[in-house]
Amino acid sequence: MTRFTVNDRPVQYRMDPDTPLLWALRDASNLTGTKYGCGTGDCGACTVDIDGEAVRSCQVTIGKTEGRFVTTIEALSPDRGHPVQQAFAADNVSQCGYCIPGMIMAASVLLRRTNDPSDGEIDAAITNICRCGIYPRLRGAIRRAGRIMRGEDTGIGEQGAAAPPPGITPEEAARTVPALGRPAPQPKR
Ligand code: FES
Ligand code: FES
Repeated sequence: MTRFTVNDRPVQYRMDPDTPLLWALRDASNLTGTKYGCGTGDCGACTVDIDGEAVRSCQVTIGKTEGRFVTTIEALSPDRGHPVQQAFAADNVSQCGYCIPGMIMAASVLLRRTNDPSDGEIDAAITNICRCGIYPRLRGAIRRAGRIMRGEDTGIGEQGAAAPPPGITPEEAARTVPALGRPAPQPKR
């Protein structure tokens, strides 16, 4: 039994402690916003926040996560209104979208440390790979997210109102999540 906190909920995983966190999140907790790209720690699609650090969840086991606090893209904001999410929408960053949750999680960790990062700090923090090539818009969106956090930007881009539509709440996400929800009733014998 491995115990830690996922999106502010205590979770117990009855899985092999060597199971990569990515698969516990996706398969046991149904938190499929965290993506599988390479499985080798290279692409960053699986990035989550563990105790304030951007971590590639394919590279850490649930055993090593014991007692820690994990935040996934589903709980970054209850309404997809985190400044990074607003900025990505305003700057129309996403193409196929597959890499975006990992990019957003890495960017949110960076901006928590500094809301006015230099290009060098952005490049050092966001080493994620995008097969669609969003890179030209990525730095700009992260800088916009910083401005939103500093109150210098409305989050409205050329696309118009950037306010994203209401998203799934952690409560809604947990409804179908066995590891996060109430224990299922046991069948009567
Ligand atoms: S799936 Fe984890 S880094 Fe690519
Ligand atoms: S938007 Fe398609 S992989 Fe990045």
